[in-house]
Amino acid sequence: MSLDYRVEPGGVLSGKLRIPGDKSISHRAVILGSIADGVSEISEFLEAADTHATIDAMRELGVGIDRPASGRVRIRGVGLRGLKAPKTVLDCGNSGTSMRLLCGVLAGQSFNCELTGDESLRKRPMERIAAPLREMGADIDISHGGIPPIKLRGVSQLRAINYRMPVASAQVKSALLFAGLYARGRTCITELASTRDHTERMLQGFGYTLQRNGNTICIEGGSKLNATNIEIPGDISSAAFFMVGASIAPGSDLTLTHVGVNPTRTGAIEILRLMGADIVLLNLRDVAGEPVADVQVRHSRLKGIVIPRGLVPLAIDEFPVLFVAAANAEGETVLTGAEELRVKESDRIQVMAEGLQRLGAFAQPTPDGMRIRGGAYSGGTIESRGDHRVAMAFAIAALRAASPVTVLDCANVATSFPGFPATARSAGVKISEV
Ligand code: S3P
Repeated sequence: MSLDYRVEPGGVLSGKLRIPGDKSISHRAVILGSIADGVSEISEFLEAADTHATIDAMRELGVGIDRPASGRVRIRGVGLRGLKAPKTVLDCGNSGTSMRLLCGVLAGQSFNCELTGDESLRKRPMERIAAPLREMGADIDISHGGIPPIKLRGVSQLRAINYRMPVASAQVKSALLFAGLYARGRTCITELASTRDHTERMLQGFGYTLQRNGNTICIEGGSKLNATNIEIPGDISSAAFFMVGASIAPGSDLTLTHVGVNPTRTGAIEILRLMGADIVLLNLRDVAGEPVADVQVRHSRLKGIVIPRGLVPLAIDEFPVLFVAAANAEGETVLTGAEELRVKESDRIQVMAEGLQRLGAFAQPTPDGMRIRGGAYSGGTIESRGDHRVAMAFAIAALRAASPVTVLDCANVATSFPGFPATARSAGVKISEV
């Protein structure tokens, strides 16, 4: 059934909001807990379609996973060599993270398996993981054009490689680190630019040694992971919608509590501050190896900027809503070096540019980014193209539109932020579901 949002302009964001758990960290906790020795307990787990796809896949691979309560996951880890051949194709739904990270683990197994996903995931590039995994000795087939489904045949053991990544991708890095657990020797991965390092932090949390030297991470295969307990911080990628909302809606003063502020994820905060946003991190603390803070955001006048290229991988999921910030800033904002946005859940450069143009804003897509000129814009009807972050970005854009905004095809918001409309309403966004 299709789900649309209708958002009236003019909301003011205030009070305190608790944002759901981090999606990237939730996936990793399930995967590593599954191949650890012993029982791991996860709390504040993100209950969303994407992370449920990872749980379902690990169960299909023979891992006992109990759900004592919402947000809690108890995993009876089977050890590195304890996974079983699945009886069905593993369906990753809309989740690129599930598919790419699971491939890293599955590449080193002795059994065959197949992974697929929904219409959007079946268009996304997979050669970026298949090529280095083949170099490690994996037997992996993907469809013509480098897209899912992915078929893996069992192997006896992988071999370590030294790999320089051609794209900045935490999913590729993580897949190779997971495959490195199953490889003979020491696998070293060099990143083009720093990307989110949750996998590295969590491997260490499970007692696994790795070495980091600049942009190179090395891991030696064959040791074991020891079960641990993990509390998941709030997802900064979900918090970002409200950071932009409070920045652009006059009178706003909003505090987002318990947000993960890992420095490899805070590019959106840095970009918004460069634009003049008033964002303060309060009560900084460490939770299960990840930095966490309460984030206070007050309305401010934003100005257009040239976004520093170094910040692009650190804000890669936040650009849909950062484009909305740019449409509300004085002057021009220019993004370059972000061609990866074209291969996300939708082509986020094209889809966001079309949506902003539809509202009458100036947005000019380029091959690797966008130019946006801030100013007044109208309401209207927007196609989200089934992309959760596009849908939420336009719900936030509506705060400053001249008339109501209808966002079509919002069911996929449940892949990362179930309850978004209710959370947004409690903060002051005049949103209803149609
Ligand atoms: C993720 C990495 C990023 C990001 C995705 C989650 C992860 O993808 O866009 O939403 O959890 O590792 P890429 O690795 O393709 O950049």
